[in-house]
Amino acid sequence: MTSGWSLYITLFTLAFMIGACWLVWWQRKGSPGGVGFGESMGHDFDGIQELNNPLPRWWLGTFLGSILFAAAYLVLYPGLGAYQGLLGWSSRGQYDGEMKDVEAKYGPLYDRYAGMAIPALLAEEQALRIGERVFANNCARCHGADARGGVGFPDLTDDDWLFGGEPDVIKATIAAGRIGVMPPFAPAIGGEAGIPAVVAYVRSLSGQSGDAQLIEQGKAKFQAVCFACHGVDGKGNKVLGAPNLTDDIWLFGGKPDDIAFGLRNGRTAQMPAHADLLDARKVHLVAAYVYSLSHAPTEEAGRAGGKPPRAEADDEHEKDRDSQ
Ligand code: HEC
Ligand code: HEC
Repeated sequence: MTSGWSLYITLFTLAFMIGACWLVWWQRKGSPGGVGFGESMGHDFDGIQELNNPLPRWWLGTFLGSILFAAAYLVLYPGLGAYQGLLGWSSRGQYDGEMKDVEAKYGPLYDRYAGMAIPALLAEEQALRIGERVFANNCARCHGADARGGVGFPDLTDDDWLFGGEPDVIKATIAAGRIGVMPPFAPAIGGEAGIPAVVAYVRSLSGQSGDAQLIEQGKAKFQAVCFACHGVDGKGNKVLGAPNLTDDIWLFGGKPDDIAFGLRNGRTAQMPAHADLLDARKVHLVAAYVYSLSHAPTEEAGRAGGKPPRAEADDEHEKDRDSQ
């Protein structure tokens, strides 16, 4: 706050308080117009007179009390411009203090989990619960509360990965973010005329039927242009985040129109970096949670009391998808 503003606020606040005190003092002997307490104000309605009665004592007491309270508050706490108050309280200080308390309470737990490898954390119910909470607060708005994603937002439960599903890769994705970029490729495959063939071939990669001749034409174009990122076999490239096109799991949709749209306009999706938003130990825990969504605890970890495998839920989901 500049000193000009500080002075302005200070004077304004003090003027109000002094004004309030003056008002009480000014009215102490009845109306300033000269009408004493108990006398008529000169208003008469059907024989009912308005008298100049003093303020009830309890009301006056409350009023004076609140002025005193304000004065004491302004001496102890920040309120008068840039003045910090005798107690030295600040909202940031309070926040830091609360964070310190939390750190004292949970820090050792976080430290212990941070020292454990992610596969081992699958057996730690509590670690996964913390990770789940971090996910709900930071990731669910894009990936969905159930982590199954949506168009342009990958499903994190299916063990199909754009960038890789190894624990360290998941952590790197969360901390540093990712950007997948596919430029518009229609011009490189013969423009509009070339699109149907390439679409048919891409769909054939995951077993959808189509016109054999069209698929053959599309294949030639794919091998000339698309292989550079998606691979000769169409299985993708995790370094680039180029999706596997053979597994019938689609980030942007697998209908002919969806694929054609991507060829005309390109596709870009971004996973924001979270290193500056989340404590490194929380990144570790949320990575463990994400990993747990597609990995059952190992045999030994399972015996130590881990989460049940999610196989059933996944079957359900596949059914949903097929029926869409
Ligand atoms: C603003 C939206 C947004 C938020 C918030 C977000 N993500 Fe993502 N995330 C994405 C998008 C979009 C992608 C896909 C990027 C691409 O295709 O290039 C992605 C990709 C990922 C991947 C890679 C998946 C793969 O198949 O390789 C992981 C893992 C991931 N996110 C985890 C998380 C976690 C954990 C959080 C919370 C800490 C989070 N995301 C928060 C949008 C988001
Ligand atoms: C420069 C590398 C690159 C080239 C070349 C490339 N792509 Fe892609 N493609 C990508 C990336 C990266 C993505 C994912 C974009 C994202 O996640 O934001 C993608 C996404 C796609 C998708 C969406 C997949 C899904 O799961 O929804 C399709 C379909 C696709 N590409 C087809 C093609 C075809 C056909 C060609 C050739 C004409 C091609 N791509 C050429 C990098 C490339």
